[in-house]
Amino acid sequence: MGTLALVTDAVSLPLDHDMPPLLAACDTVGLAAEVCHWDDGAVDWSRFEAVLFRSPWTWADRRAEFLDFCDRVSRVTRLLTPPPLVRWALDKRYLAELAAAGVPVVPTTIVEPGAAALPAVRDFLATHPRAAGFVVKPNDACYSKNVRRFAASEGEEAARHIGWLLADGSHAVLQPYVESVDRHGETDLTFFDGVYSHAIRKGAMLLPDGTVHVPTLDFRTARAADEDERAVGAAALAAAAAAVGLDRPLVCGRVDLLRGPDGTPMVLEMELCEPSLNLDFGPDSALRLAEVLADRLTSPGA
Ligand SMILES: Nc1ncnc2c1ncn2[C@@H]1O[C@H](COP(=O)(O)OP(=O)(O)O)[C@@H](O)[C@H]1O
Ligand SMILES: [Mg+2]
Repeated sequence: MGTLALVTDAVSLPLDHDMPPLLAACDTVGLAAEVCHWDDGAVDWSRFEAVLFRSPWTWADRRAEFLDFCDRVSRVTRLLTPPPLVRWALDKRYLAELAAAGVPVVPTTIVEPGAAALPAVRDFLATHPRAAGFVVKPNDACYSKNVRRFAASEGEEAARHIGWLLADGSHAVLQPYVESVDRHGETDLTFFDGVYSHAIRKGAMLLPDGTVHVPTLDFRTARAADEDERAVGAAALAAAAAAVGLDRPLVCGRVDLLRGPDGTPMVLEMELCEPSLNLDFGPDSALRLAEVLADRLTSPGA
C-alpha cells in the first residue's frame, strides 16, 4: 500500500482537531500517512498513492489558487475529492440542486451578481411573510464568515450587505432564520463511505443582537442523530455524488441539518471537500475512517 497525503496548511493545522486522532488511527491500521501543506511548492504530489483534503482552510481567501492546485494534483495522483466535486462543494448554490433532487433543504434564494439588492430582499420577505428574520451569507465562504442575521424590519441593512457581497464577486444566499436552532441547535452528521458514523449538536451561531459566533469546540457536544436525520443526510450525499458523477460514495463528508417549523430535518449545508469531522465526538470514528482510507488505497477508482 502506498502513502496517503493528508492536506492542510500552516495556519489551519493548529485548528484541525481531527488530525491527531486520524494520524494515530492510520498508524493503527498500518496506513502510511503524511501531513502536507497545499501551498507548499516543494511537495512532489506524484509520490503519494492518494490525497485527502483535511484542513486546507486558507482556500477561503485564495480560491482560484486552490482550485488550480486541485486540478494540478489530480493530474499526478488520486485526489479523493475530484475537482468537479471540490467546485460543487465549495459553492452553496448546490442547495438549489439538492432541492431539485427532492432533498429537504432550508428554503434558499440566490441573488446573482448584477441583481438589485433591495427588490430582491422585498421579494424574499413577501415569499416568506412568517419568517422570524432572515439570514444573508455568501455562496463561497465558510466558518460563519460574512454570515449575517437580520430582522424582517432590517431590509435596507440586509440589502447593503447583499450589495457588498455581490460587489466582492459572490452570490448572496438568503434564507429564513430557522428558529429551532435556538432551542435545538443544528445537527452535524459525519459519514464515511456513505455510512453514518456519528453526529454533534452545534449551538446557534447568530444572535439577535448581530453577534456572529464561529463554531469553535465550545459550541459542540456529542449527539446521536435521529433516523429521519440520517435518512436526509444519506439522501443529500447520494444527490451530491450523482450531481458530479461519482461512481462510489465519498470517503468522508458532513451534512448539517436544522429542523424546520414542522419538524422536518432540512440541509443547512454540506461539507464535502475538507470537512471538520468531529472525530473526538464519535468513539472509534477515527479508526473507521482510517479503515475506509486503507481500503480505498488498495482498490482502484476515486
Ligand atoms: N437559515 C438559518 N437559520 C438559522 N441559523 C442559520 C441559518 N443559516 C446560518 N445559520 C447559522 O449560521 C451558522 C453559519 O452558517 P452556515 O450556513 O453553516 O455557513 P458556514 O458554516 O459555511 O459559514 C450556522 O452554523 C447557523 O448557526
Ligand atoms: Mg456551517
